[in-house]
Amino acid sequence: MARRPLVAANWKMNGLKGSIAELEKIIAGARSLTAVDLLVCPPATLIAAFAAKAQGTPIAIGGQDCHAEAAGAYTGDISAEMLRDAGATAVIVGHSERRRYYGESDGAVRAKALAARRAGLLAIVCIGETRAERDAGRTSEVVRTQLNGSLPDDSERVAIAYEPVWAIGTGLTPTRDDIAEMHAFIRERLLSRFAKTGRDMRILYGGSVKPGNARDLLGVDDVDGALVGGASLKAEQFLAIAGVYRTP
Ligand code: PGA
Repeated sequence: MARRPLVAANWKMNGLKGSIAELEKIIAGARSLTAVDLLVCPPATLIAAFAAKAQGTPIAIGGQDCHAEAAGAYTGDISAEMLRDAGATAVIVGHSERRRYYGESDGAVRAKALAARRAGLLAIVCIGETRAERDAGRTSEVVRTQLNGSLPDDSERVAIAYEPVWAIGTGLTPTRDDIAEMHAFIRERLLSRFAKTGRDMRILYGGSVKPGNARDLLGVDDVDGALVGGASLKAEQFLAIAGVYRTP
């Protein structure tokens, strides 16, 4: 089965009610993009309105995090079931900002991925090394550990986002060779863990993907799309990135 690419927008803590205008532009521009799945992950406050607006269009709406439990005394948290109820069909889990600012461990990320699937959502599991880990030659080891600890026991409704932490929001990106090496390494790990179904899992690249470098980065073998932060806040830029997959 050929993997259908996925380009996902991670809006992080950006966006107010008026931002629906940006979503409308994305919806309008997405009509010509039939060879790629498009996902917009706004802050939780906007999910219901975005999902209503995107209904019947090719744009899917996702969350940026979820709690592992379905409900309970967890002040301020949002469950995967709540995201689903609001109209989301996917959720990002284990983003490096969650791992760093909230101390999310691989085990916690795995529990969230399981919760996402329980609720019927696609789980986009984020992994990636820090600058210090790369400089110390530990990239593969770190990524292997994160994969081992963060993934559910089967591959159903799971995508991976390889996001080197030092490339997020910095304008820095790995070389094409470095990306190829890591995506091939991740693919090999997925195949050894999930056998044949590991071949169908999408491995997105994330970290400073922009219209100017998207063709280069997304053209690398085993790169099945992108998780886009900063550049996804502007419809034109997000569409230009996804436009890499425009059918000629
Ligand atoms: P960036 O963020 O595109 O702004 O580097 C990517 C991400 O954090 O998912």
